[in-house]
Amino acid sequence: MTHAPRIRPRRLRSSAAMREMVAETRLHPRNLVLPLFVREGEGTREIASMPGVRQHDLDSLARELHAAAAAGVGGIMLFGVPATRDATGSGADDPSGILNRATTLAVREVGEALVVQTDLCLDEFTDHGHCGVLDGAGGVDNDATLERYAAMALAQAEAGSALLGLSGMMDGQVAHVRAALDAAGHTDTALLAYSAKSASAFYGPFREAVDSQLVGDRRTYQMDPRNARDGVREVALDVAEGADVVMVKPAGSQLDLIARIAPRVDVPLWAYQVSGEYAMIEAAAQRGWIDRDAAIAESLVAIRRAGAQAVLTYWALEVARKESSR
Ligand code: PBG
Repeated sequence: MTHAPRIRPRRLRSSAAMREMVAETRLHPRNLVLPLFVREGEGTREIASMPGVRQHDLDSLARELHAAAAAGVGGIMLFGVPATRDATGSGADDPSGILNRATTLAVREVGEALVVQTDLCLDEFTDHGHCGVLDGAGGVDNDATLERYAAMALAQAEAGSALLGLSGMMDGQVAHVRAALDAAGHTDTALLAYSAKSASAFYGPFREAVDSQLVGDRRTYQMDPRNARDGVREVALDVAEGADVVMVKPAGSQLDLIARIAPRVDVPLWAYQVSGEYAMIEAAAQRGWIDRDAAIAESLVAIRRAGAQAVLTYWALEVARKESSR
């Protein structure tokens, strides 16, 4: 017995009650944001690569919004799936475009209960699938795109969105959109900057989710996944430009970035568990290769533990329901 350890970490793992008592990280429904896809026209559509996620029509969106509010989810993030697309993404700032109509509906139905947020990016609305407008050589024109973002921001603010998700990775987008909103009197509309957003293979299923046909890739504007310091720099720029919340995306493959950025900023830091992260766990679970519920919980806890205060996740509703009944 002389070699018996005096210090035994296992003591704090000895019962479920003890483990709950000493748990450092919790998933609270209010720290979860549910992304929702809304298609123009009647009828919903399954998204094959994201089992359990669908493109809503306005009727089914309304039902999902009330379910999210009842479960105590912190917010929703709306993505539009328009019926037609063009070179400049004109559906994005059309007040009767699908995203702005869905926003008006969401604000009316659940605007008091949760934070209604909107994706502010052109890729869902352009026929070439890029996040901005193209220049003569087929590249994405940063400064011309800023004008489109400003118009989109005004339309979303008019529709009542509380938090605009700037996901396009154009330089200067936060400052430009902030100035446009303020000039129009929308001084209380907040900005969520997708600051450290990498050009990621894990966005694959999202393309199907929004019916986007991307020509080429996004490497001239989204970050190179090999770089962490670029993410730190992007976050600092966005905070200086007036971002109210900053984000790391994807989450699971960039936990180091979350941990690195968290102590450096005084604004909330969120993370996006993206479509591919969702699809991987669902696919493995369908084959019986992984314990689905445990894997979902562990993946989300890891993101929170790394330092993200809130997480955008396609499991938000399911996890919120589970956590609030615990
Ligand atoms: C841009 C946007 C994308 C995602 C969220 N906003 C696509 C992209 O940048 O390529 C991806 C989210 C996901 O994969 O779940 N509008």
